[in-house]
Amino acid sequence: LRVAILLSGGGSNMVALVDSMTGAHPARPVLVLSNRPDAGGLEKASARGIATDAIDHRAFPGREAFEDALHARLLAADTELVCLAGFMRILTPGFVARWEGRMLNIHPSLLPLYPGLHTHARALAAGDTEAGCTVHEVTAALDSGPLLGQARVPVAPDDTAESLAARVLTAEHRLYPAVLERFARGERSPLHLR
Ligand code: GRF
Repeated sequence: LRVAILLSGGGSNMVALVDSMTGAHPARPVLVLSNRPDAGGLEKASARGIATDAIDHRAFPGREAFEDALHARLLAADTELVCLAGFMRILTPGFVARWEGRMLNIHPSLLPLYPGLHTHARALAAGDTEAGCTVHEVTAALDSGPLLGQARVPVAPDDTAESLAARVLTAEHRLYPAVLERFARGERSPLHLR
C-alpha cells in the first residue's frame, strides 16, 4: 500500500510511521508532503530516503487552489493512503471527498473530547485525570470521522500543557503505527491502547 504522509512541523509522527513500515508490513511510505517549505519533518524524511515536497499554502489564492496542487502531487506519487501527521491545515469537504476512506489523521485528545486546538490545556482546565490521542478516518467534519484507535495516558496533578503534550506524543508514536498496519490489512475495528 503506497502511503503519503502530510505534515506541517517536526514530523515525529511521520518518523514513527516511516520506521514502522518495514519487512512484512503491507504499506510503504512513498511521499512526505508539507504545506510549509521549512517544516523540520521534510529533512527527517529525506534523511530516510523518502521523496519529499513542499506545497506552500501561502502561494495560492485560495484553499481550493492549494488543495488542487496537493491532490495532483498525491496522484503523481500514485498515493493509495494519506496519513495526516501534525498537518495543520483544515481540508475542505471537496478535498476530503476525493480521499474519503483513504485518509487518516491523528488528533491529540480522546475524541470526541476536545476537537480543534489546545487540547492539552483544555483537558487540564477540565481537571481530567486521563488524556490521550485518537486516530480516525478523515471526513468533512473536523476531527470527527470513524474512530480507528485511541491511546490513553494518565494526567499527573503537576502536569502542564507541555508535560502532558510530551506524554501524549509518546502515545501517538505507538498508536499511529499500530493503527496504520491494521488499516493496511483491511482491519477497521478500533484499537484501544492504555
Ligand atoms: C503534535 O502536537 C501532535 O500531538 C499532533 O501534531 C503535532 C506535531 O506532531 N499530532 P509531529 O511531531 O509533527 O508529528
